[in-house]
Amino acid sequence: MKIFLDTANLESIKKFNDMGLLDGITTNPSLMSKEKGNPKDAMEEITKIIKGDVSLEVVSTEFSGMIEEGKRLRQYGENVVVKVPMTPDGLKACKSLSSEGIPVNVTLVFSPNQALLAAKSGAKYVSPFIGRLDDIGQDGMNLIQDIKEIFQNYPHLKTEILVASVRHPMHVVEAAKIGADVVTLPPGVLDKMLEHPLTKIGLDNFLKDWEKVKAENPDIKI
Ligand code: E4P
Repeated sequence: MKIFLDTANLESIKKFNDMGLLDGITTNPSLMSKEKGNPKDAMEEITKIIKGDVSLEVVSTEFSGMIEEGKRLRQYGENVVVKVPMTPDGLKACKSLSSEGIPVNVTLVFSPNQALLAAKSGAKYVSPFIGRLDDIGQDGMNLIQDIKEIFQNYPHLKTEILVASVRHPMHVVEAAKIGADVVTLPPGVLDKMLEHPLTKIGLDNFLKDWEKVKAENPDIKI
């Protein structure tokens, strides 16, 4: 399963990219609004740091605006995926951009039918928002299971399932068990995935015991 980071924060992107963990980035206007500085600089920088796909979202809501913005966003790099909302105009833009070879991520997907339609209009990625469904008392992971089953029934659909609105590490485990193609993670969730209390306790003990070895062999170096 590919791991994308769901942020426009350059520091976090560099941190996890240096660990070799990132296959791509997703952003949206809300994430952009959290960062200081000109979003254009951030978009340019992100597409340079990351080799994999970088989703940049349009803010127009009608077809021609989406196409215009999509083409402008694509100028930031060959790895830019244009993110469009799951609306009639969004799907029209998806079809048009995809047929010109510009990859599209259809976002704000909340039902299996929306995912199926996005796939039919040529999306490279479909982004079901599981956390926001959980928030209103619906099981977000069921949606991933349903989409996976539907896409498996029709192997000619090449659209990848990009699990979005991830809230905690168990979402990641469950998405991986279902066989989702990608998860996009807020930096905090990726931090939590790195940690285990026994790792810390184990390392503390190793270092404490090594101090005993050093006490008896003061010049020792590994
Ligand atoms: C996906 O691409 C979105 O940017 C994101 O996952 C939305 O998550 P949220 O529900 O935490 O805002």
